[in-house]
Amino acid sequence: MLVVGNWKTYVRTREKAKKLLVAAKRLALGRKIKIVIAPPAPYLGLFTASRGGVALASQDVSESLDSTETGEVPAPLLKEMGVTYAIIGHSERRARGETDAQIREKVQRALVHGITPILCIGESERDADAKYLAHLRTQITSALSGIPAKDLLDIVIAYEPIWAIGKSDEDAIQPADLMETVLYIRKVLGDFIPGKGATRVKILYGGSAEPENARALAGGGGVDGFLVGHASVDAKMFAGIVKALKQ
Ligand code: 13P
Repeated sequence: MLVVGNWKTYVRTREKAKKLLVAAKRLALGRKIKIVIAPPAPYLGLFTASRGGVALASQDVSESLDSTETGEVPAPLLKEMGVTYAIIGHSERRARGETDAQIREKVQRALVHGITPILCIGESERDADAKYLAHLRTQITSALSGIPAKDLLDIVIAYEPIWAIGKSDEDAIQPADLMETVLYIRKVLGDFIPGKGATRVKILYGGSAEPENARALAGGGGVDGFLVGHASVDAKMFAGIVKALKQ
């Protein structure tokens, strides 16, 4: 199981970041669950000195190549900071205008520099005609086309329905619906990855994952872990999710 804490912009002091890191290190002591933290970029350095078994993720990666681009954070720089995962195509970035083409570039940049992309996909609503499935297919297809199948095995997909983000466990997806969606995502991945490869790609769920629903979603939803937002900046809640998954 893989549990990624996306701190978004919730954490705004070094003190809070340090406290959460200490708590995350404790959670990473057990072997069963891999803990990954994605802090706001200015706090990446806090993880370089001592992060125990906690892996480090960036919340984004630049798609730019060698040109000088003020404000961008390119993959080699992230790599040097110890980043091994990069969240790419989060709905909150897509909402700011990030395009499918940029997302594909970002996935490529991360892979070239040995950073595992956590590709976020998700629909804004579930319509009765299941058009949302076509939307997910488009998001996956546009992000992954042209990437060699062997590299695709290293990618993590985070299914984050936008309607479930930032609420509470009661608003999250139901396990059966999650299972159905995960199977569909694997089917789409099967178009890119030959043989049984698609079954090996890790799929996470994100969207109001909390201690109360993590176990049911992991068991009945067929996911390999979670991308956690608000509950990852509350040490008690984050520990609660990890404990629920260890049971
Ligand atoms: P919440 O867990 O706050 O719903 O956020 C999910 C998310 O967007 C993680 O990337």
